[in-house]
Amino acid sequence: MKDSKTIRKEFIEFFEAKNHKVVKSAPVIPINDPTLLFTNAGMNQFKDIFLGKKKPEYPRAVDSQKCIRAGGKHNDLEEVGRDGYHHTFFEMLGNWSFADYYKKEAIQWAWELLTEVWKLPKEKLFATVHESDEEAYNIWKEVTDIDHSHIEYHGDKDNFWEMGTTGPCGPCSEIHYDRGENTCHMKDVEGHKCAVNGECHRYIEIWNLVFMQFYREEDRSLSPLKDQYVDTGAGFERICQILQNKNSNYDTDLFVPIIEKIAEISGVAYHQDERGVSHRVIADHIRALSFALADGGMPSNEGRGYVLRRILRRAARHGRLLNMKKTFLQDLVDVIVDVMGDHFVELKEKKAHIKLIIKAEEERFNTTLDKGLD
Ligand code: GLY
Repeated sequence: MKDSKTIRKEFIEFFEAKNHKVVKSAPVIPINDPTLLFTNAGMNQFKDIFLGKKKPEYPRAVDSQKCIRAGGKHNDLEEVGRDGYHHTFFEMLGNWSFADYYKKEAIQWAWELLTEVWKLPKEKLFATVHESDEEAYNIWKEVTDIDHSHIEYHGDKDNFWEMGTTGPCGPCSEIHYDRGENTCHMKDVEGHKCAVNGECHRYIEIWNLVFMQFYREEDRSLSPLKDQYVDTGAGFERICQILQNKNSNYDTDLFVPIIEKIAEISGVAYHQDERGVSHRVIADHIRALSFALADGGMPSNEGRGYVLRRILRRAARHGRLLNMKKTFLQDLVDVIVDVMGDHFVELKEKKAHIKLIIKAEEERFNTTLDKGLD
């Protein structure tokens, strides 16, 4: 089985070989951007380039960006634990063109990596394009050997990507993976039909190619950007799920060690069905907390600090559902450092700090809970 470290490396090396500069992930706590609660996409650190305020130092870049989607326009908090592929914290693999290549290369290279390097079965891949983007539709037909019936037009909801209520944006082309009939959780719902961007868990989006060309103004109008850019985002945990032949991100090597530790501490075995919701929520939330605290976040009563407090409290409450009355969250941090600390060295450097803050915050919450219960 290909491990997650190899998968991340292969993505970066693929684009490096195509003259992309390898750049570091920006912190999850955004620097100097009051429009954002957390870094929610790989493009955040390049926003000023897209806006023409900053000259790019290189025409192409590749990275794995740490993202948190737990508030603001992109918020996945409520989905966490209920399916196997939404997270508060995740990594987004991305390749970037700053007024250099555009739709053709972005599509061609995504297809090449997925089908030639990673050898994903072509019949399981689907592409969507914005309903107005005939150009991208034709490029899919011309530069790839995708089954033409697997190219679909979709509307703004799924194929127009925006960073927030204002900011750079543009039509996008998404790549979805068919995980097979048995992954549909709505088989018994009358009239249900599995579909790309449908309601069940069968097809999952794995990569979004955004063709950045507009700015969304306060009054909702769109102004053209000075140039055209490519911003892509591939969900790393989802790619690992597929390449490791699993049905859930939580069954990949990114999560298994954390879940095993939760089962060990609590004495409650993990199950992949609904009985495992608490294990999954805790595993997800402790990753978000560890990365946010490593990057300078702090639980508090307002703004992003309040979101972090809520995430921690949710994890602690799920701990209670697994019969854990004492603090336990800090004990999971070592596992996260083992799994991801080689690539994200800040986790190693800040480990003691992360554990200290988590323990203090969990202790305070436990005291409140115990009083309430009394
Ligand atoms: N900016 C691309 C994405 O977040 O999907």
